[in-house]
Order: sequence, then structure tokens, then C-alpha cells
Amino acid sequence: MLLMKDVLDEKDKRLRKKSKEVVFPLSDETKKRVNDMIEFLTNSQIEEMAEKYKLRPGMGLAAVQLGFLERYFVVVHEYDDGKFDNYVIFNPELVSTSEEIIYVGEGEGCLSVNRDVPGIVPRYARCTIEGYDIDGNRIRVRAREELAIAFQHELDHLNGILFVDKIDKKDPFKGKDIYREI
Ligand code: NI
Repeated sequence: MLLMKDVLDEKDKRLRKKSKEVVFPLSDETKKRVNDMIEFLTNSQIEEMAEKYKLRPGMGLAAVQLGFLERYFVVVHEYDDGKFDNYVIFNPELVSTSEEIIYVGEGEGCLSVNRDVPGIVPRYARCTIEGYDIDGNRIRVRAREELAIAFQHELDHLNGILFVDKIDKKDPFKGKDIYREI
């Protein structure tokens, strides 16, 4: 199973690289990794499991964060008390976005960034992503609010971008009164 030590830290140069398109069919190794990523993220959001395995809570993980420069990510979203939805998207593309911009009031987090970075990360309130599922079928996923932010955050990882890059260096809270806080 995956543990925190398997997740690259922001200092690792691989996180700054652009990941490559995934070719189907997937290898058994990749399929197993996807399951490991789902398990890891789910456990990280369950208090007892997070404590037991010393996991920092996280909603999403891109393959590059495990050192695999491949274009896919996993997002595990708690939609009801103790119930989780998994999203696994290969070769994702942002196909439409809202005009409205939002940000996480308490600041965004990342399993590769082991420090608090205050500031506003502007994100689209709603977005649609197209890509492929684990079997290579074309999929289209619409998301809003927290889930939309998670998708945009993970998509950035595939292009070598971390959330800290999106915070204005001179004025970290720039846009506070323009964008909507969630
Ligand atoms: Ni991240």
C-alpha cells in the first residue's frame, strides 16, 4: 500500500515536468497503482486510518506525485458521511469552464507541499473535463465547487504546476473581494 513516503515532495524536480499522454490498454501495474491511489486517498480521509498510517488528508493525487510522468489523476470525494466517490481520469482535458471564479478560504493544500501556504488560488467555480476511464472509454465529467477545484489542481500537476505557483507573490490575497470564497 502507498504511504506518505511514496509521495514526492515539492522540491523534487519531477513535479515540475509535463506528464505524457497515457496509451491504452493500461498495464496491470498502472491499474494496480490506480487502486492503490484510491485506497490511499480514501484512508487519508478516514480519521482512524489516517492516524494509523500517518496520512495527511488529501482529495487528489496525480501519477507524477508518485514519480510516474503519466497524464492521469485520482480524486476521492466524500459526498455523504462516510461515503466516497472516486474519479479516475486519463489524458484529461478541460473543455469548458464557468466565468465565476472561486477559491478555498482556508487555503489550498497538496500532499506534495508539506507546509502551509496562505493565499488565494483562483479556480473556476464549475468545469467540465473530458478524458478516458481505466478501460479507455471516452468520458466527460462535470464538477462544481470543491470537486471542480480538485480537478483543476490535479490537472495542473500534469503540466508541472503546483498550487503555490498560482498565489500572487507580492499580494497573496489579491482578488479576495472579487472572487467567491468557499
Ligand atoms: Ni497536489
